[in-house]
Amino acid sequence: MSSLEILGIKTDLIKVGDDLVEALEKGMARAGLALQDGDILVISESTVATAEGRVVDLEKVSPGDLAQALAARYDKDPREMELILQESDEIVGGIPGVVLTMKEGFLYPNAGIDHSNAPAGHVILFPRDPKRSAAEIRRKIAAGKKIGIIIGDSRTHPLRLGCVGVALACDGLEPVEDARGKKDLFGRELLITRKAVADNLVSAAEVIMGEGDEGIPAVIIRDSPVPIREAGGEIPSIPPQECMYIGALRRGLHPYTGGYDDLIRSAEEARENAYAPYSGFKVGAAIICRSGRIYSACNMENASSGADICAERAALAKALASGERDPLAIVVVGDSSSPISPCGICRQSLVEFGEHILVIMANLQGEAVMASVGELLPSAFTSRFLGQSPISKSWMPDKRMPEGSRR
Ligand code: THU
Repeated sequence: MSSLEILGIKTDLIKVGDDLVEALEKGMARAGLALQDGDILVISESTVATAEGRVVDLEKVSPGDLAQALAARYDKDPREMELILQESDEIVGGIPGVVLTMKEGFLYPNAGIDHSNAPAGHVILFPRDPKRSAAEIRRKIAAGKKIGIIIGDSRTHPLRLGCVGVALACDGLEPVEDARGKKDLFGRELLITRKAVADNLVSAAEVIMGEGDEGIPAVIIRDSPVPIREAGGEIPSIPPQECMYIGALRRGLHPYTGGYDDLIRSAEEARENAYAPYSGFKVGAAIICRSGRIYSACNMENASSGADICAERAALAKALASGERDPLAIVVVGDSSSPISPCGICRQSLVEFGEHILVIMANLQGEAVMASVGELLPSAFTSRFLGQSPISKSWMPDKRMPEGSRR
């Protein structure tokens, strides 16, 4: 029979600055428990974060303009929104009361900032470096035993009610088991099956740990078939374009959350030079490429309006003519009541160089939103329909030119 044991460790309330390992050892001693070879210790992230001093008094946070605007939009405390901006790489979107954030390739609600189990008026941030915390706790608590550590958190799945466990980091075990190549019950090869071992163990642990006042911030998982080995650290992620949920659901505009202020300034400067005597509508654009170089341009009109060129395409042409082939982000700015959005032709021109290109759309009032080109132009016509890669043909000027035409 295969079985495992889950042993809860009840501790005193863990406060800022407490020695977590000492508190866990005390709790284990009280319950007559001691770590054994093969044990995996699951500890809740908020406990680790609290001991590390990641508790913030909201009174001491002063929200900036962006935090205020986003707080109003998502119906959140502006001080908490300020912390969310500091703690995350991107705000993907949200609903009243909660924003979905991206940090180092993972999605978190509210950047992982927690009210529960925090003193009144305070919130708990994530541990600063969960991977390091896991390694340190393991080193201190192992006392010569072969054990694994997982720092666990909980999360909801899309459309499911209730939380399941996820691992923020682990040490001493492989977080994801690759089951590809193994056979199913009928002898067929499993093609894409990977087992989220660390997440599954956290879910099992949470059956005992709970989320509230149980006072069980950690459990020992004993006799599991998961081998202890020198592995772990970060939990592996997949790029957004390979994620079913992101691929299926990520549409539309996201609030601008910073990081491209210089690019916005370049676009605003270029806008000053716009040649727009017919519409009077000046537009500026600036592109940053993987080389780190920035190319800015403005719109250029013509008495024959079909010959107009938008600022975005002018900037793209400038980048290409300078030898760039890998644009990463483009800002477009105009004097419009809401952030200006690139026209269809510009979207098509941009998608040629990748659906991932980030488009930051801004106006002169300082409002900005962003989206990838793929989001702005879903189901675009690209080189894949021609059955050829642009790298082998048009991207190589010397291959494209007829014999004798090169100077
Ligand atoms: N325009 C741009 O430069 N970029 C856009 O994204 C939208 C429109 C220009 C083209 C034309 O010169 C003027 O704005 C009015 O259509």
